Amino acid sequence: MPRVFSGIQPTGNPHIGNYFGAMKNYVRLGDTYGKNSIYCVVDLHAITNPAAYDPAALAERTLEMAVANFAAGLDPERVIFFVQSQVPEHQELSWVFTALTPVGELERMTQYKDKAAHLESVPAGLLMYPVLMAADILLYKADTVPVGEDQTQHIELTREIARKFNHTYGETFPEPQAVYAKDALRIPGVDGQGKMSKSKGEGSTIGILEPLDSIWQKLRVAPTDPARVRRSDPGDPEKCLIGDYHKLFSDLPTIEVAFTGCRTAGIGCVDCKKMLMEGIRRELTPLQERAAELRADPDWVRDALAQGAQEAREIARPVMEEVREKVGFLRL
Ligand code: TRP
Repeated sequence: MPRVFSGIQPTGNPHIGNYFGAMKNYVRLGDTYGKNSIYCVVDLHAITNPAAYDPAALAERTLEMAVANFAAGLDPERVIFFVQSQVPEHQELSWVFTALTPVGELERMTQYKDKAAHLESVPAGLLMYPVLMAADILLYKADTVPVGEDQTQHIELTREIARKFNHTYGETFPEPQAVYAKDALRIPGVDGQGKMSKSKGEGSTIGILEPLDSIWQKLRVAPTDPARVRRSDPGDPEKCLIGDYHKLFSDLPTIEVAFTGCRTAGIGCVDCKKMLMEGIRRELTPLQERAAELRADPDWVRDALAQGAQEAREIARPVMEEVREKVGFLRL
């Protein structure tokens, strides 16, 4: 049975790029692999980037990320879902891997270079980030890692670390493969300034837990195909972010009406946006209702995470025992 692992950054309110690119994939893989699909909110990673980390907000964002994933359909009875800092074996294995990983490899990671470029003083943890990520995955001997394409280099390093460990200490870890969500077609930001990204601020994102009227305010002013200067100008929905969103949220008949209407100038952009809003409402309303229920029951969320951490530790502990023994630590 393959084992799936993925880590989720505790950024608070996830956006529709996270939802279609990752969260729906977790739910789908969970349906297939059950308790062999393991998901974790990576709060240990979150503290490595001083530009994005606020200690006063971390616990709240961690809980919000759990709520969002539960609301999106991840069932803690069926999968393993927990918070990284609750399972100390992640850090323990990470240290062993640190001793195996050349600094030069870490300095070549493009995400590290991008983040470090904005910092006056670079924390060592930022450099070690991919080592901790390798420990996350290999602690569960996971072989399948659903991630965004921006993580490809980190997964490749994880494979190298697994190889190096196996070579040094004997066959222990699988070499995991990244799997990409098919919907992870670069989802454009609603501001029309390239990819949807939290790091560009709320202006580019549509949060899955964002109130629908706030989403509408963003859609209303979103840029469309610049060829449609006047209502009577035909447009190309393939060159329009609203067209891209229709493909995610609308059913085929609606897409047909909207796209034909755009190409023939039969409908205006506001009509097209209203049609899109219907699809968004259909997809996000049940999710937002579940999130509201979960927020009203914080004990349920905490219990689910505590249970998840326990299940994770049951897998992690014997693996860590094996590692301790192979590395040669004293046993008492
Ligand atoms: N680095 C990943 C990201 O930014 C998050 C992550 C941490 C992760 N540990 C992981 C992803 C382990 C997959 C497996 O998205």
